[in-house]
Amino acid sequence: METYRSRWIEVAQSAEIPEGALKEVAAGAARIVIANHAGNFYAFQARCPHMGAPLSEGTLVGSKIDCPWHHYLYDLATGENYYPKSVYPEELKHAVPRLKTFPVRQVNGRLEVKLAD
Ligand code: FES
Repeated sequence: METYRSRWIEVAQSAEIPEGALKEVAAGAARIVIANHAGNFYAFQARCPHMGAPLSEGTLVGSKIDCPWHHYLYDLATGENYYPKSVYPEELKHAVPRLKTFPVRQVNGRLEVKLAD
């Protein structure tokens, strides 16, 4: 039986990911990117939900991640798509995928990610 604690998985040392950096890590069988924006850590799926680009090769633009292939922009905290959704007509907005995000916390200098149950 899985315990509450077992769903948090250590993925890196906080010091490995300085402010403004992105790093792809393993969390169990999943691949996840950790971003450090303004001293806060965010975790999200490693591949862009559009066509699979490696988001660790993207660029942080304020509180968003800019995909390296077609420049979709996703909010780091919510995974909500900002671009191109913001310029799409209302009837097409639902078709833009969102980024899957995960809770992340620091414990004694280590970063832990909580995977979905
Ligand atoms: S693969 Fe990321 S925007 Fe197309």
